[in-house]
Amino acid sequence: MKSQNTPTSIDTLFIKTYGCQMNEYDSSRMVDLMQQAYGLRLVATPQEADVILMNTCSVREKAEEKVYSELGRYRLLKLKKPALIIGVGGCVAQQEGERIQRRAPYVDAVFGPQSYHHLPAMINKIRRERVRVTDTDMPEIEKFDHLPKAKDGLKQGISAFVTIMEGCDKFCTFCVVPYTRGSELSRPVADVMADCQRILDSGCIEINLLGQNVNGYRAAGPDGEEWDFTMLLYALSELQGLKRLRFTTSHPMEMNEDLARAFAEIPVLMPFIHLPVQSGSDRVLKAMHRGHDRATYFHTIAALRKHCPHIALSSDFIIGYPGETDEDFEQTLDLVRQVGYDFAYCFKYSARPGTPAADSDDNIPEVVKDERLQRLLTLMSELCSASLQRQLGTVQSVLVEKTSRKNEGDVQGRTEDFKIVHFSGKPRLVGQLVDVRITTAYGQSLRGELVIKDD
Ligand code: SAH
Ligand code: SF4
Ligand code: F3S
Repeated sequence: MKSQNTPTSIDTLFIKTYGCQMNEYDSSRMVDLMQQAYGLRLVATPQEADVILMNTCSVREKAEEKVYSELGRYRLLKLKKPALIIGVGGCVAQQEGERIQRRAPYVDAVFGPQSYHHLPAMINKIRRERVRVTDTDMPEIEKFDHLPKAKDGLKQGISAFVTIMEGCDKFCTFCVVPYTRGSELSRPVADVMADCQRILDSGCIEINLLGQNVNGYRAAGPDGEEWDFTMLLYALSELQGLKRLRFTTSHPMEMNEDLARAFAEIPVLMPFIHLPVQSGSDRVLKAMHRGHDRATYFHTIAALRKHCPHIALSSDFIIGYPGETDEDFEQTLDLVRQVGYDFAYCFKYSARPGTPAADSDDNIPEVVKDERLQRLLTLMSELCSASLQRQLGTVQSVLVEKTSRKNEGDVQGRTEDFKIVHFSGKPRLVGQLVDVRITTAYGQSLRGELVIKDD
């Protein structure tokens, strides 16, 4: 018989987040939800918590194992504090569903990226009925309608993330995201504008638009017509208080000349784009179902550079996709050299359960993957250093983000083209846009000195 206990009080929340910025955003919304519903206070360690949430990622290998080993640690805490509530959300939860509670029966709640707005109701049920709950539905309705408003939010700080679209319909053969996040769904223009204005009104000056394929954004505009991503950018750029506008991630297949031109025409749109290509080989791109070839990608890069010659570029690469030959890999190196990226994220291919590529033989030996990865990383770090060195002696506009943890008296910020700069400055500069003369280029960041304007 279930006991209808008077629930013990819950005061504190610990949340651990893995994966992409969409997950970071979702976690912050979960915190908002739990604060609103229960007045929970966020704590820094699981030991202090009455509720522990994990927001998981399943994009690369060993994701599930990492989750279970972390859960093992939480089990020990629950042995000491039986009222502790443990919830697992995110992309592993979406894929594994009830399997999580079969393997880890002390987990109270399992929920997916599209159902976390039900968290307060789930927690209520757990506390009152002492049952385990699973909710991995992907409802058609907008979860955004059920989340607290991105609010007054001093905690939004000076730079905020705003999710404008969810999910992915591209079904690249190696990728779990379409299965964990569901199909592409864009938020109405008016909702995005209202969220952004609220955030700007709270003192934030930089907005980062988020989505798996932001440039695939298509939604109803205030005029009743369908708006695309570029139209949204122009509208957002008019918002009061906005100094910097960024977005991530873009898909090469959804690029067009209008979007490239926006970099020239919208002053607040920062000159940086993350445009993952994954491979430089036409054969591999085709096998991955990326929907474009090398030539189209080069064409897009040329259009971006035509409209915005100083645009910084980054990408993701997958090394050792099933069947990738030495020649395919040379094509990737060649593409990297021709584009001349500012930086990139490079991953060894790992077969993900349930994806089409997982049916192909993962036939590139680990040593070959390692060797190719090493060559790509070496090339990439040369390009990264070169792009930093090109800024030596220049004066860059820097948005100061925080005080430096390593060097007392230093602050840290980003240039318009997303490079990290350290310089000596007072903590009160945090949140301000300042001019910094670049004096040193390191491997992955810059150092400079504040330019004091003589008025
Ligand atoms: N929507 C984005 C990428 C989202 S996933 C895009 O299409 O560009 C982030 C990155 O993880 C991908 O760009 C890819 O490089 C990497 N990735 C995804 N699945 C992977 C797998 N099975 N093995 C290795 N890397 C993978
Ligand atoms: Fe994954 Fe491809 Fe969708 Fe990116 S576009 S999220 S790599 S399926
Ligand atoms: Fe990971 Fe899910 Fe993001 S799989 S990368 S957390 S969309």
